[in-house]
Amino acid sequence: MKNILIINGPNLNMLGVREPGIYGSQTLETLCEKIRKKAKELNVGVDFFQSNIEGEIINQIHFAMGKYDGIIINPGAYTHYSYAIRDALSSVNVDAIEVHISNVHKREEFRHKSVIAPVCRGQICGLGANGYLYALEELANDEV
Ligand code: DQA
Repeated sequence: MKNILIINGPNLNMLGVREPGIYGSQTLETLCEKIRKKAKELNVGVDFFQSNIEGEIINQIHFAMGKYDGIIINPGAYTHYSYAIRDALSSVNVDAIEVHISNVHKREEFRHKSVIAPVCRGQICGLGANGYLYALEELANDEV
């Protein structure tokens, strides 16, 4: 059975409260529940990690090495400038997919650039919570 780590970065713990017009009204817990349900259907294991702290996200990425077959990461605003998270993903030999709930390309210009995406297998954005489910399907079905 494959094991996938889902990492959510800063402010994603505020889902449901935070800018519902952009991020919707579901909470992070509801989102994790949907992912858990999908993981059962796909017969993969999932673990969840959320932090507002860059170093904790980096430590978790390092921890994933040798323990997980894939990472799904929504780095929040770190997407746009954290070379440290990018380097962490490059340091471990674990396939990663970057996910964004909102369509970052429709939003402010500073959100158009991801420094993380070039070290990921792919990027999914603008499809709401479903983006995590599509990423899970990809990592579950592919020979990671
Ligand atoms: C986000 C998009 C980022 O620009 C923003 O800073 C977030 C959430 C998304 O999921 O749409 O915190 O990653």
